[in-house]
Amino acid sequence: MWLLLAGNVLLVCAADATPIGCRRVPNFGKLYHVKGELSLPHSEIKEPFEAWYDLEGNRSRIDYRNGKVRTYLIGNDLDYGVIYTITPVNTATEIQAIKCFQLNGTQEGPIRPQAALPDLQGFEFEKMENYEGVLCEVWKNVTQVGHKKNTYRLWVTRPATPHRFEMVGFNTLLESHNDKYTIDYSDFSPQTESDIFIPSGGMTCEEFPDPVEEHQILANPIQDYVNTSPVSHAHRLFGPFKEKFNRQYESEKEHEERENYFIHSLRHVHSTNRAGLTYSLGINDFSDWSNAERARLRGGILIPDREKDTE
Ligand SMILES: *[C@@H]1O[C@H](CO)[C@@H](O)[C@H](O)[C@H]1NC(C)=O
Ligand SMILES: *[C@@H]1O[C@H](CO)[C@@H](O)[C@H](O)[C@H]1NC(C)=O
Ligand SMILES: *[C@@H]1O[C@H](CO)[C@@H](O)[C@H](O)[C@H]1NC(C)=O
Repeated sequence: MWLLLAGNVLLVCAADATPIGCRRVPNFGKLYHVKGELSLPHSEIKEPFEAWYDLEGNRSRIDYRNGKVRTYLIGNDLDYGVIYTITPVNTATEIQAIKCFQLNGTQEGPIRPQAALPDLQGFEFEKMENYEGVLCEVWKNVTQVGHKKNTYRLWVTRPATPHRFEMVGFNTLLESHNDKYTIDYSDFSPQTESDIFIPSGGMTCEEFPDPVEEHQILANPIQDYVNTSPVSHAHRLFGPFKEKFNRQYESEKEHEERENYFIHSLRHVHSTNRAGLTYSLGINDFSDWSNAERARLRGGILIPDREKDTE
C-alpha cells in the first residue's frame, strides 16, 4: 500500500487500486510466451508471429510463418552473443532451401534478448476502453524526434496481459497522419520451455545476405515495431539509400514524404520476404515512391519485367 497526494486530495492506493493516479505500470515479467499479428495497413500486410522471451537466460526467439522462419537471439553464445535465423530461401539453383544465417554480436553491439512487447517505462494510463469485448486499460506514450511525432498505445488487462499495441505516426511538417501499424496479441503466458531456445543443430550458418546495412532488420525482425522511438533502424537506412540512388530532394517537405514512402517500402519488402514467396524483393530505385506513383508507372508503357520488384 502507498500514498499519493493529488492536488489536495489524499489517495490511498492498494496494489490494484482503481483511482487513475494509482495505477501501476503493467509488468510482463522476465519470462513469457506470446503470439501476435503485425498489421501494416499501408501495405495491406498481416503477419502472424510467435515469440518467447527469457531475460534471465539472456535469450529470445521469434517465429514467422508457423515456425518456418525462426530467429534466435542468444546473448550467451560466443563473446558478445549471436543471432541465428533459420529460413527457407531461393537461390540460383534451389527453391525454398533451408538456410541458417548468423550475426555475431560485438563489443559495441552485444546481442541481447529481444522483447516482443513494448517497454512501458514512460507510458501513462490514459483511459479504460473495450477492445473486442474486453475491458482494457489503455497506456499511452508520445515521442517526437524532428517532425516525427509517434503515439503509442497498449491495451492491457490484469494480471498484466497484452491485447493490442498501436503506433500512429503524425508528421508535424506535412501535417498528416502518415504512418500506422498495430500488433494484436494473444495467448500470453508467463512461462516458456527452455529447449525452444536451442536452434536445431548440425547446420552451418553463413553471414546474412547483403546489403550489410539491413542485417540488423533481418536479424531482429520485431525490434523496430516494439521500440518507442520515431527513428528506427529502417529510418537509418534512408541515408545509404539516398546515397546509392543519388537522391537530392527539393525541399524538406519532399524529404519527409520520400522518407515515409521508403519506410513503408522497406517494411513491405521484409514482411513479403518472410512470407517465403518464390521471388525475393529488394530495395531499389522505386523505394521512395508512393503507391499512386507506382500504380501510374504500371499503367504506363514500361516495365513489365520490373513490376514485381517495385512492390
Ligand atoms: C547477455 O549477453 C550479452 C551479450 O553477450 C552480454 O554482454 C551480457 O553480459 C549477458 N547478460 C547476462 C545477464 O548474462
Ligand atoms: C562469427 O563467429 C564464428 C565463431 O567464432 C566465426 O566462425 C564466424 O566467422 C563469425 N562470423 C562473422 C561474420 O564474423
Ligand atoms: C515516453 O517515453 C519516453 C521513454 O521511453 C519518455 O522519455 C517520455 O517522456 C514519454 N513521453 C511522455 C509524453 O510521457
